[in-house]
Amino acid sequence: MEKTLILLKPDSLQRNLLGQIMSRFENKGLKIVGLKMMKLSDSLLSEHYAHHQDKPFFKDLVNFMGSAPVIAMVLEGVEAISTVRILCGPTSGRKADVGSIRGDFSMSGQHNIIHASDSLEAAQQEIKRFFQDDEIFNYQKLDLSAIYAQEELS
Ligand code: CMP
Repeated sequence: MEKTLILLKPDSLQRNLLGQIMSRFENKGLKIVGLKMMKLSDSLLSEHYAHHQDKPFFKDLVNFMGSAPVIAMVLEGVEAISTVRILCGPTSGRKADVGSIRGDFSMSGQHNIIHASDSLEAAQQEIKRFFQDDEIFNYQKLDLSAIYAQEELS
């Protein structure tokens, strides 16, 4: 099953949006298999954004991403990488469709709430960058109705 890496950026923490964003992934049917809060160092951010190091916004981006903790998540599901990218919308919150996470919560290109892996290769690299193997969980979603049916009424 496909896995993808998500970072809820410092603006989602500052704006009290964490629960609402995580609910969107749960409601969609994606499975959370890794989850933690992290303060990202300049060296980790320089590695994560190495492909942007020549861009004029690079320094601001590293400062922004290190300005408060992020929530890192690994989500699992069928075609999870492309599905999560559709839920997020394109980079600029101003261009993202209403209904997408960035379209609903962001007016910015940089403070755009969330990062999501953009390919299978990126997802594999990024998951390794932010999670140890034993921080990713393999578990079954229970059919709770079958369990509830066995409860004794008192
Ligand atoms: P993301 O797509 O997660 O990863 C690269 C990040 O760089 C992007 O989110 C934005 O936060 C930031 N970014 C991309 N383009 C710009 C831009 N033109 N100006 C400022 N920040 C940008």
